[in-house]
Amino acid sequence: MELVTDIVPLRNRLSKESSVAFVPTMGNLHEGHLSLVETAQQRADCTVVSIFVNQLQFSPTEDYGQYPRTLEKDCSLLKDMDVDVVFIPDKQTLYPEPQEFLLMLPPVAHILEGKFRPGFFRGVTTVVLKLLNIVQPQKVIFGKKDYQQFYIVDKMVKQLNLPIEIIACDTVRMHDGLAQSSRNCYLNKNQRFESVRLYQSLHQIKRSIEEGNKNFKMLQDDVIKKMIQHNWNIDYITIQQRNTLEPATVNDKELIVLGAAWLGDTRLIDNMEIHI
Ligand code: PAJ
Repeated sequence: MELVTDIVPLRNRLSKESSVAFVPTMGNLHEGHLSLVETAQQRADCTVVSIFVNQLQFSPTEDYGQYPRTLEKDCSLLKDMDVDVVFIPDKQTLYPEPQEFLLMLPPVAHILEGKFRPGFFRGVTTVVLKLLNIVQPQKVIFGKKDYQQFYIVDKMVKQLNLPIEIIACDTVRMHDGLAQSSRNCYLNKNQRFESVRLYQSLHQIKRSIEEGNKNFKMLQDDVIKKMIQHNWNIDYITIQQRNTLEPATVNDKELIVLGAAWLGDTRLIDNMEIHI
């Protein structure tokens, strides 16, 4: 495994590879990230993982400063998996001057996460586009855990004609259903116990709809009420159309339920595809 911190050596190292699959991350790697790495390894000869906590996608009130940074452990996990290249740029390498060129994002970037985290998708798409231009992979792997992020990056890759195949991987969960996340480490013991309710609530909605219930508003309101009773602060729990991310109507068949909610100071997100 090679650790590379600069752009020119990275390009030199990758120039001899015929197929590169790329997994962008912010580190503090867990099984969710590692499942993406496994997919990358199955889909190309050379796997590149980047680790970079991208300040541009954090608002000033968010957890950029305290975001868990565990570089040594991350590298040892990736080494155990026999990853070819780990790209660890610093801020100066990715943003040597103020990032003035920014993308104009589509309306879908201003709903759901975009509504509650203004600037988030601008930061994400900017860094992902830069990383894709730096690594120039044939394939890039994203997790469906951040479904809207995958959806927007997929749109960006297609609309900007990047010659890259984007591959989405299923959400990896803990034994009780909680989606694996770098932010789970913020939860105390009681919160960790309670945190599974987000998964259970989304699952309840999914099951009801798959059993034929079409009263989306009632389904959403019921779980929101219950979660509030258990001290959650809800940003959204909502049933959307999977292919547009617009609110679902009763005739839609391709649905997804998405949720974002706070337990104390920790914000958790999750989603589930619904099959009817
Ligand atoms: P990060 O949160 O580190 O996630 C990196 C990748 O891992 C994303 O594609 C995310 O969807 C995926 N992932 C996280 N938890 C997962 C889980 N439980 N199951 C499956 N996949 C999971 O997402 C980011 O970083 C950043 O926004 C980034 C794209 C790197 C841009 O800075």
